[in-house]
Amino acid sequence: MIIAIDGPAASGKGSIARRLGAHFGYPHLDTGALYRAVGLAMLQENQNLDDSDAAAKVAENLPLELLDAAEIRTAEVGEAASKVAVHAAVRKALRGFQERFAGQSPGAVLDGRDIGTVICPHADVKLFITATVEIRATRRHKELLARGERIIYARVLADLKVRDQRDATRKEGPLRPADDAFQIDTSNLDIEAAVAAALTFITSQRT
Ligand code: CDP
Repeated sequence: MIIAIDGPAASGKGSIARRLGAHFGYPHLDTGALYRAVGLAMLQENQNLDDSDAAAKVAENLPLELLDAAEIRTAEVGEAASKVAVHAAVRKALRGFQERFAGQSPGAVLDGRDIGTVICPHADVKLFITATVEIRATRRHKELLARGERIIYARVLADLKVRDQRDATRKEGPLRPADDAFQIDTSNLDIEAAVAAALTFITSQRT
């Protein structure tokens, strides 16, 4: 069973994806980490994030150990990730890895922006996770502070708005719910309640 989970930054999709992976015993891929790793490598090499060819080369030779690097979690790398994610050649270079991950037996959970629409259009379960931008900014601000980053709430909110807009309006793999996605608004749900809503939906789909 493939579980595809999409949604904007800090909507809770990553936490829900990890919990569902643990529940079903499936591996989980945070596909945002791929784009973040490309963004970080571009920054480290002092490359222009708007250079599609350079970014595609980095994506084609992505050092997979970067996926677990703490440095990919900064606000700066999140912004860089969203800039390199605009390039069709980058998305193409990262596609095979995601498709192979999704093809594992007996199942897999992937979260990102275009999983239900582009990477796994035939996923058995599609979820689209949302929350108000203010609540998402509050969550992301807390996470960044906990990681030792010095950043104010207003900056996080402004960054998320710019990123949402860029992600939703790009030509390739824009952020949008698949037609058959089940939407969960986590604005007023804690993680337990959000996972419970997802599990109720999945159970109803399978019976
Ligand atoms: O953690 P957060 O929700 O802030 O973002 P992320 O999931 O780590 O993704 C970082 C950026 O990568 C996003 O803003 C997207 O532009 C891009 N991304 C994408 O284009 N497609 C995906 N499947 C996953 C992430």
